Amino acid sequence: MSDNQRIELRFQLNGESVQVRVHPSDRLLDLLRYDLGLPGTKEGCGEGECGACTVLMDGVPANSCLIPAYQVRGRTILTIESTELADVEPLLAAGTTQCGACTPGVVMTARWIRDHPELLERFGSRQLMAGNLCRCTGYDGIIDGLLALVGQDEEA
Ligand code: FES
Ligand code: FES
Repeated sequence: MSDNQRIELRFQLNGESVQVRVHPSDRLLDLLRYDLGLPGTKEGCGEGECGACTVLMDGVPANSCLIPAYQVRGRTILTIESTELADVEPLLAAGTTQCGACTPGVVMTARWIRDHPELLERFGSRQLMAGNLCRCTGYDGIIDGLLALVGQDEEA
C-alpha cells in the first residue's frame, strides 16, 4: 500500500500527544508495539478473546488487537507503560503473575476497576475480570490481588 493511502491522526498516548500515519488495515496493537516502541501490550489470541492486549481507551478496557489504529484519532490511550509499579504493587504481590503473558492486560483492567469501585459491587470481581484469560494462576491470585488493590479484604 502506498504512502499516500496512509491516514494521519493525532491522539493522546500515556499522557502525551502523538501524531502518526497508519494504513487503514493497521491494528492499534501493532501501532503500539512496533511503530511506537511500546512492547508491553501483549498479543495472545489476536481475536478479542484473551485480553492480553488490553489497553484503556478513554478510560475503558479495550482489546487493541481488534481496534483499527485509525479509530484512535482524538482519543486517549493508556498502555501498561503508563503504570507505576508502586501503584499496582498490591495486585502483583498477591500471586497474580506466573508466566506473565496475561499480566499487562490484567493490570490495565484492574486499574479501571480500581478507578470505578462502584462496578465491583454491581458486577463482582470475576465478571469484571472475565475478559482477561489466564492459563496459569487459576484466577484466585488475580482476584485476591484485585481486591487488595481496591482496598477490600474480600468481596462485598
Ligand atoms: Fe487481543 Fe487476545 S490478543 S484479545
Ligand atoms: Fe500465565 Fe496468566 S500468568 S497466562
